[in-house]
Amino acid sequence: MKVRSAEEGDLQQVKKIASTAFQLHRYWTDRGLDRRNVEGYYEAEVDNFFKELSGNRDRFNMYVVEDEGQVLGYIVLKIDEYLSRAFNQRWGTIASFALRSDSRGRGIGSVLLSKALEWFREKGAERVDVSTDAENVAAIQCYEKHGFRTVYAGVTLTKVLAERAKT
Ligand SMILES: CC(C)(COP(=O)(O)OP(=O)(O)OC[C@H]1O[C@@H](n2cnc3c(N)ncnc32)[C@H](O)[C@@H]1OP(=O)(O)O)[C@@H](O)C(=O)NCCC(=O)NCCS
Repeated sequence: MKVRSAEEGDLQQVKKIASTAFQLHRYWTDRGLDRRNVEGYYEAEVDNFFKELSGNRDRFNMYVVEDEGQVLGYIVLKIDEYLSRAFNQRWGTIASFALRSDSRGRGIGSVLLSKALEWFREKGAERVDVSTDAENVAAIQCYEKHGFRTVYAGVTLTKVLAERAKT
């Protein structure tokens, strides 16, 4: 098992992980949304990450954990220029983090998160933010184990203005 920077060839495996990993997230839990669109949303997000990755590895990075050619999980890291400027400190964010369901709870997430924090330090980040779902105990505990502390817990409200016919 090794941790390495993501390569173009990892795209499909990372998309597959992302498509079903976020079952506590706002879109996954919204029964009013079409399931295919929900999975497609998380896949499209990964497409975007890979596009950003080809641009600037100084402000953007993705690590994967690989075992015998199989990607077991990934983490996406950014130095957020907007926040860095606004708050006058180099501000990192974890944009996405997930493992295959059969690879969780074995310390692999911790290995990825340690590697991520190492990268943020190398890039001079003074702070790292991550947003997760209030019910995501595994993620929250994993972050807490690595020194993160909750600073804010929000709610999302929605109002449906036009009902769509179910397909
Ligand atoms: C969140 C996630 C990446 C953590 O990775 P992991 O490999 O399962 O975590 P680890 O095995 O390294 O565990 C690290 C710590 O997290 C906590 N933890 C992990 N799984 C847990 C669970 N099911 N319940 C409670 N705490 C848990 C523990 O404190 C653990 O430390 P310990 O083993 O010393 O007690 C993984 O569970 C995952 O992919 N979840 C689905 C996707 C997701 O929700 N991503 C977060 C988006 S912000």
